[in-house]
Amino acid sequence: MAADEPLVLGLETSCDETGVGIVRGETLLVDAIASSVDEHARFGGVVPEVASRAHLEAMVPTIERATREAGVRLTDLDAIAVTSGPGLAGALMVGVAAAKALAVALGKPLYGVNHLASHVAVDIVEHGPLPEPTLAMLVSGGHSSLLLVPDVTHEIISLGSTIDDAAGEAFDKVARVLGLPFPGGPYIDRAAREGSSVAIDFPRGLTTGRDMERHRFDFSFSGLKTAVARWVQAREAAGEPVPVADVAASFQEAVTDVLTRKAVLACKEHGVANLQIGGGVAANSRLRAMAQERCDAAGIALRVPRPGLCTDNGAMVASLGAQMVLKGRAPSDLGLPADSSMPVTEVQA
Ligand code: KG4
Ligand code: ZN
Repeated sequence: MAADEPLVLGLETSCDETGVGIVRGETLLVDAIASSVDEHARFGGVVPEVASRAHLEAMVPTIERATREAGVRLTDLDAIAVTSGPGLAGALMVGVAAAKALAVALGKPLYGVNHLASHVAVDIVEHGPLPEPTLAMLVSGGHSSLLLVPDVTHEIISLGSTIDDAAGEAFDKVARVLGLPFPGGPYIDRAAREGSSVAIDFPRGLTTGRDMERHRFDFSFSGLKTAVARWVQAREAAGEPVPVADVAASFQEAVTDVLTRKAVLACKEHGVANLQIGGGVAANSRLRAMAQERCDAAGIALRVPRPGLCTDNGAMVASLGAQMVLKGRAPSDLGLPADSSMPVTEVQA
C-alpha cells in the first residue's frame, strides 16, 4: 500500500444500512456499518421513513468510528464518494447531503456514484483489479441484473434484468410464507442445509422456448414465489406439516439454477471468461457453490467477494470512488442529485 495512493471515504445510504468505508487505492482500511434492519423486521420489509431517520442518527457516529478505526483524519482524505442512486429517495438524500457537507468543509472532490456499479467495484479491494471486460451478475433485494462491464468507472452495459421480483425479494417473500424472519435470505440459506434440493420441482422462470428468445438474459421470480406459496398452502389445507427445510432447499435450488445458468450463458455468448457476482444474494452458500461448479466446467474465472462485502456497505462506494480517482475521472458537480431511479448504465452522477 503506497502512501501516494488516493485515500477515499465512501458513504452508502440507499437502503437500510448506513455504510462508511475508507480505502487507500485498492486496499480496504475500514468498513463501518450501522444497520436499521431490526427496526424494519416487524413490518416484514424496509420502511423508507424509518430508514431515513436511522441514517440521520447513524451518519456522524459511523463516520467517526470509521476514521478512528482506520487511523485517518478527515483532512487526510483525497476524495469523498457517495451513493447517488438508485435506492430509497429519502435515504439517499441523507448520504448525499452528508457527502456534500464533507466535500465542501474539507475542500475535497466529490464523486456521486451508482450503487450497482459499486457492488461490482467492491471486489477490487478483495481480489484486485477487475479484468476488463468482466461480466457481472448483481443479485440483491432490489435488483437482479446481468451486466457487461468494459470499465466499472465509465461503461456498463445491461444485458438483462428481472421483469418482476428481484432475487432477494423472492427469498424474503418465500421466507415469510415459511414463517422465517426478515430479511429471509440468510434464514432460507440456513434452513436449506437440512433439506433436499430435489424434494420439490419448482419452476425455473424464463428458461425455455420463446422466453429464451425474448428474455434470454432476463429473470422472473414471481411465478416461482407463487408456486412455493401454493405448494405450502396445499399442504396446510390438507392438514399436513410443511417440510420447511425441503421447501427452502428446493426453492433455493430453483433460484440459483436459473441465475448461474444464465450468467454462464451470457459469459459464453459475449466471449467473456470472467464472472463476478455481487449483491446481498451473492452471500448465499448454494449460489456460491453452484456458480463455482458451473464456472469451473465452462473455464470461467469466478470472483465473489466475501459475504460481508456482498450486502450493502460503504467500502463498495469508497472502492468505486478510488477507481474514479485512479482513472482520472472528473469529480461530480456539487449539485449532484439523489436519484432514486438512477439507471445502471450511468456509473457517475
Ligand atoms: O445488497 P443488499 O444488502 O441490499 C439491496 O441492495 O437490496 O441485499 C439484500 C438482500 C435481501 O433480500 C436478503 O434476503 C438477501 O440479500 N440475502 C440473501 C442472503 N443474505 C442476504 N439471500 C440469500 N441467501 C443469503 N445468504
Ligand atoms: Zn445493494
